[in-house]
Parts: sequence; structure tokens; C-alpha cells
Amino acid sequence: MIGTCVIGMIGAGGVAARHAEALGGFADVRIAAVADPDRDRAAALADRFHGAAYGDHRAMLAGERLDAVYVCVPPYAHGPPERAVLEAGLPFFVEKPISVDLAVAEEIAAGVRARGLLTAVGHQWRYLRVVERARELLADRQVRMVLGHWLDKVPPVDWWARRDRSGGQVIEQAAHVVDLARLLAGEVVRVDALESLTCAAAPEADVSAATVANLRFAEGAVGSLAATCLLAWKHRAGLEVYAEGLALEISEAGLRVHTEQEPELFEDEGTAKIRIDRAFVDAVRGIGDDIRTDYADALRTHRVACAVARSARTERSVAVAG
Ligand SMILES: NC(=O)c1ccc[n+]([C@@H]2O[C@H](COP(=O)([O-])OP(=O)(O)OC[C@H]3O[C@@H](n4cnc5c(N)ncnc54)[C@H](O)[C@@H]3O)[C@@H](O)[C@H]2O)c1
Repeated sequence: MIGTCVIGMIGAGGVAARHAEALGGFADVRIAAVADPDRDRAAALADRFHGAAYGDHRAMLAGERLDAVYVCVPPYAHGPPERAVLEAGLPFFVEKPISVDLAVAEEIAAGVRARGLLTAVGHQWRYLRVVERARELLADRQVRMVLGHWLDKVPPVDWWARRDRSGGQVIEQAAHVVDLARLLAGEVVRVDALESLTCAAAPEADVSAATVANLRFAEGAVGSLAATCLLAWKHRAGLEVYAEGLALEISEAGLRVHTEQEPELFEDEGTAKIRIDRAFVDAVRGIGDDIRTDYADALRTHRVACAVARSARTERSVAVAG
């Protein structure tokens, strides 16, 4: 068992700061170092936790004695950080999407498997209390249909509007909904998608303005997914789930349960983004076993999102590898 969990962070942007804030609130964690090619950013985050700043993750891994690493880089930057962490044999938490494409993610998954490393991925919706409640309600029912949506604005990060940087909206954002659909309805085996070009968010933008997809699940359910970045506000993100005599509407904010009775609304308590970090630290320290999405599982979500992106581009049906 590890006493204090010593953590190094790769990437010092928005989501890294969020994790650092949560980790900094745990008495058994020390953020020892932060690495980011933007060294000022690394220093700004590291200073808040009295850690060391590095301009390169390899220097951080060589210079620090770490128990675990957080990889919080943009989608296009995955690969080199994970390879270095694998080489160091350290447990790691990585943000979704695990890569901009499938090849890097498959390679890293093989490396994780070969080394038997502990991993966790930032699909924090699985830690929503309302998702736990939804799973209880669905425990003895078969899900027959899911309707997912992510109707939003272009996020304020400079890499987002380019497919080769972010992977596009389904891979970068709607992955949370795809992951939830997998959790509740099982594995997706085939997708058929279409997209509407082009989101005029920036002159160089080439992500689609809107994507729709039909999904076939292995256990018989059908589903659809709709995503757009055309709006100036976050309109709606969530999943509707249909089983016999039951309809659920799930979002990060709450769960609406429809039966033949009056609908019931459960608000989420808003702790999922902290509980996902707590679960990872507990697993690293050897005092807990509640990682709900490891790398292998996130790879299955990523395969579906990549299949949707490919199907939309080619206008062909795409089978999802098991
Ligand atoms: N789970 C969630 O709810 C959630 C929320 C926000 C973002 N994210 C994900 O987190 C990732 C990062 O998003 P963000 O909003 O923090 O982006 P960001 O642009 O704010 O920060 C990314 C940081 O990574 C740095 N970086 C780039 N290449 C690097 C490398 N090789 N080594 C170290 N650092 C490197 C950049 O300089 C930047 O500081 C994205 O994949 C995004 O989808 C997840």
C-alpha cells in the first residue's frame, strides 16, 4: 500500500487544472510536477501545488519519483506521453478522447495490456449518482433503444475546430454519451452516419457542423446519436433510454424517470468529477477498486466514436471491432 500518492501531470490546460484542484483537496496526494510544452502554463499550475515545472514530459519522468501520472493533453498529442509513461511502468489516468484516431489508441492499449498497468480514463459520467440510479432501474430490464445527443457550441480551445487536432465533435465531446450508451445498452456492433459540413467556427475549421448516426447494439437494442456545434450555448447533452414500460432521460445534471405514473426527477449531486479522481488514487494506493472505465474499456468507446466519424465521412456502414 502506498501512503502519499505522488502525482505528475502531463498537460497543464483546462482539464488538468480541474483534476489538480480535485487532487489537491485529497490529504493523501501530492502533485509533485507538471509538464507542458507551454512552460509558463506548467509553472503556473505547478506553483499552486508547490510542484516542479517541466517543458517536457520525458524530463519530468526522469527527474521525479512518481506513483502515478495524469495525461491531460489535447487529442492530437496522445501517443508520446503514454509511450513514455508505459516505459516508466507507471499507472496513469488519461483524459478522453484517448487519441485523435484509432491507431495510437490500439497501440497504447496493447502496451497497457502487456505491462498489466493500472489505468483510468476521464469518462466521469459513470460516476454520476443519476447514472448509478439509472443502472438500478434498468437492472432487470432489457434496453431496446437509446437516443443520444450533444448539441453545443465550439469549445474555446484553439485545437478543437480541426479534425486532425480534435478528431471532431463525436470523438471529442459526444464520446461521453457513446460511453454511457455502451454502459446501459451494451456493445455497439455497427454504425451508419451522415454529416453536414462545415462548421464555420474559424477560417481553418473542418469539423462537421452536424452529425447523425444510427447504432446497432450486440444485444438487440437500436440507437441514434445527434451532435452539432452550431450553437452559441450548450443546448443539451445526454441520453434517453427506453425499455419496456420505462423511459429515462439522463444528463450530467439529472435523471428524469417516466413510467405510466407522474415523471420523477432526480438531480445529480455534482460530485462525479471529484469521485473519478478519488477512485483512481484509491486504486493506485491499493485501498480501493472502483475504476469504472479503464483504458481497454475506453478503447471500445473510442472505436465506436471513430466508427461514427468514418461512417459520416464515407457515407458507408462501418462495423465496430469487438
Ligand atoms: N472529461 C471531461 O469532462 C473533459 C473536460 C474538458 C476536457 N477534456 C479533455 O481533456 C483534453 C485536454 O483538454 P483541455 O481543455 O485541458 O485542453 P487545453 O488546450 O486547455 O490544454 C491542453 C494542454 O496540453 C498541452 N500539451 C500539448 N501537447 C502536450 C504534450 N505533448 N505534453 C504535455 N502537454 C501538452 C497544451 O500546451 C495545453 O496546455 C481534451 O482531450 C479534452 O477532450 C475532458
